[in-house]
Amino acid sequence: MTTVHATLGRVAERLGAAGCATPRVEAELLLGHVLGTTRAELHGASARELGEDDERLLEILVSRRERREPLAYVLGEWGFRRLSLRVDPRVLVPRPETEIVVERCLGLVRDCTRPRVLDVGTGSGAIALALADEHRGARITAVDAS
Ligand SMILES: C[S@@+](CC[C@H](N)C(=O)[O-])C[C@H]1O[C@@H](n2cnc3c(N)ncnc32)[C@H](O)[C@@H]1O
Repeated sequence: MTTVHATLGRVAERLGAAGCATPRVEAELLLGHVLGTTRAELHGASARELGEDDERLLEILVSRRERREPLAYVLGEWGFRRLSLRVDPRVLVPRPETEIVVERCLGLVRDCTRPRVLDVGTGSGAIALALADEHRGARITAVDAS
């Protein structure tokens, strides 16, 4: 059994060797995902020991990331504005700059109480879901050809 502290060091080293640009942050995200904790909570739990199931799952996820599978697909979720969206290789990982698209849309419908919105090519649903979350009166249709 190893501790959170030792595991983070080991995983970060592996991810760094595999060419990941921010290995420590990624190690924290992967271990946090396995343990069901946030990165902040991990810092207060450095002496916690991992169980066998945790170690097994972490190994699978780290191996996938070492093969340079996108982190969002390995985690199966990705943050977008106030939401955590489920993602897998069938959809584009929502991009930070797409959050600005949502900001612009919210500006356009700011004065409408019941705006109608059409999101064509919704993919993960990032834009439609964020708009629904941040403008409770919006009536939103989201479509995708895939
Ligand atoms: C680059 S992704 C963008 C996904 C999402 N809007 C985002 O920002 O994360 C483009 C999406 O448009 C969809 N798409 C492409 N052509 C389309 C069409 N003619 N009608 C509907 N969806 C389409 C694709 O299947 C894909 O999911």
